[in-house]
Amino acid sequence: MKDVLERLEDRRAEARLGGGEKRIAAQHARGKLTARERIELLVDKGSFEEFDMFVQHRCADFGMEKSHIPGDGVVTGWGTVNGRTVFVFSKDFTVFGGSLSGAHAAKITKIQDMALKARAPVIGLFDAGGARIQEGVDALGGYGEVFKRNVIASGVIPQISLIMGPCAGGDVYSPAMTDFIFMVKDTSYMFVTGPDVVKTVTNEVVTAEELGGASVHAVKSSVADGAYENDLEALLQMRRLIDFLPSNNMEGPPEIPSFDQPDRIDMSLDTLVPDNPNKPYDIKELILKTVDEGDFFEIQPKFAGNIVIGFARLEGRSVGIVANQPMVLAGVLDSDASRKAARFVRFCDAFGIPIVTFVDVPGFLPGTAQEYGGLIKHGAKLLFAYSQCTVPLVTVITRKAFGGAYDVMASKHIGGDVNYAWPSAQIAVMGAKGAVEIIFRADMNDPGKIAARTKEYEERFLSPFVAAERGYIDEVIMPHSTRRRVARALALLRNKASETPWKKHDNIPL
Ligand code: HXC
Repeated sequence: MKDVLERLEDRRAEARLGGGEKRIAAQHARGKLTARERIELLVDKGSFEEFDMFVQHRCADFGMEKSHIPGDGVVTGWGTVNGRTVFVFSKDFTVFGGSLSGAHAAKITKIQDMALKARAPVIGLFDAGGARIQEGVDALGGYGEVFKRNVIASGVIPQISLIMGPCAGGDVYSPAMTDFIFMVKDTSYMFVTGPDVVKTVTNEVVTAEELGGASVHAVKSSVADGAYENDLEALLQMRRLIDFLPSNNMEGPPEIPSFDQPDRIDMSLDTLVPDNPNKPYDIKELILKTVDEGDFFEIQPKFAGNIVIGFARLEGRSVGIVANQPMVLAGVLDSDASRKAARFVRFCDAFGIPIVTFVDVPGFLPGTAQEYGGLIKHGAKLLFAYSQCTVPLVTVITRKAFGGAYDVMASKHIGGDVNYAWPSAQIAVMGAKGAVEIIFRADMNDPGKIAARTKEYEERFLSPFVAAERGYIDEVIMPHSTRRRVARALALLRNKASETPWKKHDNIPL
C-alpha cells in the first residue's frame, strides 16, 4: 500500500512540474507566475481541488507520440474566493506553450459543464499559443466545444477571463464571449493573428504590444475591461471583483456586512456642481461619497472616460453604477461611451444587480465622425439595454439631462423606478444658446432681445421643476442626502417584480 501511495505522490509531483524546471524558470524570468502559482493566489488558501491532473494528449503526429506531459497544458479545478465556489482553468505555458489540444479542450469543457451545473462562476487564466498546431482539426473542434459552452453559460453564471501572457488565434474568442476580460500590463497580449502574419498580409510592421497589448485593448479597442501591473495585482483584483458578483443569475446580488451608515449625509456634495454650467466636476467624487466605504470597482477606466461604470455596494449589497463624467468631453454620449455602458447595463440586468445612474449629459456628440461610425446604432444599444432592464433602476440627475440623452440615461419613461434630481438639474431638449438660436432665429440681430429670450428659456427650462411638475422626476433632493435617498430607494425596490412578454430573445441593435 505504501508503494501505491508513494507512486501517487510521485505522479502528482511530476504533473505539478509541468514543462519542467527550465521552462518554469523562463516563465519567472519573464515576470510571470506559473499556472498553479496563479491559482494559489486566486482562490482561498488550501481550497483548490484539481481535476484531470493526469490527462494526456492522444496525438501521434509530428513526433508528439514521444512527448507526453501530464495535464496537457492546462490546470483545471475548483476552489473558493472568500468562501464562495469558483471554477478555474489556468493555461500552463510551460507545457507545449499552453496550446490547446483535443484533450486540453476536454478538460476545460468539463469545468464549464460542472460550473453550469453548480451555478458558480468560471475564471479562465490565459497564457497560451492558440491551437496545438500538431493536432490540427482536433484543436479546432476543441475550441468550438469551448465556445459553444461560453454562449450557453452566458447570462447564467459569470465568466471572467484574465490574460496573463500570449493569447492568440483560437484563444481570443473564448475570452471575447465571457463577461469580463482583464490583462496584465507588458506581459500579455491578445490578437487574432500575430505580428508576422500581419506583416505578410498587410505589410504593417508592429510589435506584439502595439498590436494587442494592454495599452491597446484596455485603452483603444475596449476588448479588455482593465489592466494591472503584474500577475499578483491582477489576481487579487479578480478576488475583489468576485465579491461584487452573484454566483449565478438566480442568486441575487451578494451582501456583505457594511459599517457605513446608509443615512450618512455629505454636506460637501451641496457644492459639487459649479455655479458655471460649463465648468466640469468629477462625478467619481459623487460615486465615492455615495457608496459604502467609498469602495468602487471601476470597469474600463481607461476607455471612453466620458462615462464611468463599475460595481459598488449600498447597505452591503452590490449595485452597478453608470455615470456621465463631466471631466471628459463634458460627459457627452458618443459611440464608445454608449457601447461601454450598454454592455455593463446588460450584465447587471442579466445577473439581477440593481443599477444606480448619475446623469449629467449635454446630449449625443454631433459630427460626421460619430455619424459615420454608427452613433445611431451605438446610442440605441444603451437605450435598448436600459429599456429592457427588469432590475431596480435608481436615477439621480445632478445637472444636464438634455435631449435624447435624457431619455436614454434611465429616465422614468424607459423604466426608471425612482428618479431623483438635484436642484441644479437642467432637464430640457437642449442648452439655452442652441435653443434660442433655433426658436428665435428672427431676433438673432438684436442682442438685447436674444439676451432676454435666453434668460426666459433658462428660467423656464433649465431646472428640474418642469419635469417634476409632470412627475417625470419623483423628487428634487438635496445633494447632501443622495446616499440616504438612493439607499432607501434600493431598499424599497428589493422585491421588484416586472413582467415582460414572452419572446425567444430580443434583437438588440448590435
Ligand atoms: C504547439 C506550441 C504552440 C502551438 C507555442 N508552442 N505555440 N506548440 N502549438 N500553437 C510551443 C513551442 O513550440 C515551444 O515549445 C513552446 O510552446 C514555447 O513557445 P516559444 O515560441 O518558444 O515561446 P515564445 O517565444 O514566448 O512565443 C510564444 C508565442 C509563439 C508567441 C505564443 O509560440 C507562437 O507564435 N506560437 C504560435 C501561435 C499561433 O499561431 N497559434 C496558432 C493560432 S491558430 P518548446 O518545446 O520549444 O518549449 C488558431 C486557430 C484556432 O489558434 C481558431 C479557432 C477559432
